[in-house]
Amino acid sequence: MKTKRVTRRKFIASSSAGAAGALLSNPLPVFGSAGGAATELALKGGKPVRTADWLSWPVWDPEAEKPMLELLRSGDWYRGDGMQCKEFEKRYAGLIGARRVIATASGSAALIASLQVMGIDAGDEVIVSPYTFIASYNVIFDRHALPVFADTDQETFTINPHKIEEKITDRTKAILPVHIFGLPADMNRILAIGEKHNLPVIEDACQAWLAEYDGKMCGTLGDLGCFSFQNSKHIPSGEGGAISGNNDELMDRAFAYHNCGRPHGRSMAGMKENPVRGSNRRMTEVQAGLLLSQMRRARSDADKRLENALYLDARLKEIPGIIPYKLSDGATRSSYHFYPFRYKKELFDGLSRQKFMAALRAEGIPCYPGYGRQYFDGLIEEAISSSGYKRLFSPERLKRYREELHHLPDNDQLTEEAVALFQNMMLAERSDMDDIVNAVQKIYTYRKQLL
Ligand SMILES: Cc1ncc(COP(=O)(O)O)c(C=O)c1O
Repeated sequence: MKTKRVTRRKFIASSSAGAAGALLSNPLPVFGSAGGAATELALKGGKPVRTADWLSWPVWDPEAEKPMLELLRSGDWYRGDGMQCKEFEKRYAGLIGARRVIATASGSAALIASLQVMGIDAGDEVIVSPYTFIASYNVIFDRHALPVFADTDQETFTINPHKIEEKITDRTKAILPVHIFGLPADMNRILAIGEKHNLPVIEDACQAWLAEYDGKMCGTLGDLGCFSFQNSKHIPSGEGGAISGNNDELMDRAFAYHNCGRPHGRSMAGMKENPVRGSNRRMTEVQAGLLLSQMRRARSDADKRLENALYLDARLKEIPGIIPYKLSDGATRSSYHFYPFRYKKELFDGLSRQKFMAALRAEGIPCYPGYGRQYFDGLIEEAISSSGYKRLFSPERLKRYREELHHLPDNDQLTEEAVALFQNMMLAERSDMDDIVNAVQKIYTYRKQLL
């Protein structure tokens, strides 16, 4: 499917005038498409702003039925016997502008393979954002290394590059920025730190398909990039992942690792069978077949989400206490896996985020609180009190590590203030975005009903 590329700048030029116009022509909230002069919040029994459903995800493409059936009937479900994975790798590399892509079983598999290839080993440390899906921590533990958290920039939701250097020790072996919700991390600063300290940068772009930084796609900026195609993702295949990279030697080694350690590519030519450690992290042909069909809508979906996000940016920021995400310096486009904003309860007379979100859901607007303080949920303590970690790290290091978990003030605050809208909502129409704005505005206007 061919669609015209739309840049954030072009959208701002065309849609901020539209958004401003909408604000002017609609200075008083008309509370929603469900109709009715709702002066009572839905949570209190009033008429909700919206009763219509949102797009259900994933979306099946009827055009994929014939090729998928052929694929299933062929029995060529393993990548060694077919062309689907190879074709997907070629097309995805073309889509994101990477020299090479390796299809993997999942995003976690892509991250684990990348960490292995960059030489992350038992007893090493990797600097990572604390504001992320738990897999970004787990893959580091999988290497028997320590995930070291640098605080989050609350405005951008991504790792604060000014907090990275203070976390570097003689054990630090890599930086793993996460483009969370599709918001690109501040890559120029992160890459400069990587270069200064000779640390590779692996991008966790598992939520950042077609997100852009400095006009380049996320996942192509660091040494390696990792993507997820799990079912909730913008290009879904139940499970799936990919590694992207521009360095042939690294990519050959990554391919070898994900394929049981079998040598791969020109840089490993002539080596004996299984010259390196490896695992089976391969994608199946069936996953790749699905991805080839799902990828067809990725570009136009991304443009639609961007268009709606820019409209929401302009309108939501007019409501007191609602602060939409900000792009980091140099970032040019988010993928909007979620559309996040910060909720300042002090401007809602102290109405808790939990009640605000319950009220929003009751008005017909699904929402999600984002990530919590996962470093206190048990995983970290379980790992670092294990016999292996006690052998790998000194008691002093682990004591300091435990203490530092209590010094992530910006991340802690963000975990209490974030509210995020789901990506499928961002594929709806302008009037649906108005429902979102009207619901938030309605809660603000009638907040006292909930106090
Ligand atoms: C930020 C982030 N990193 C890593 C992963 C892991 O990907 P997967 O679930 O495909 O293993 C995910 C998946 O949700 C993710 O959101």
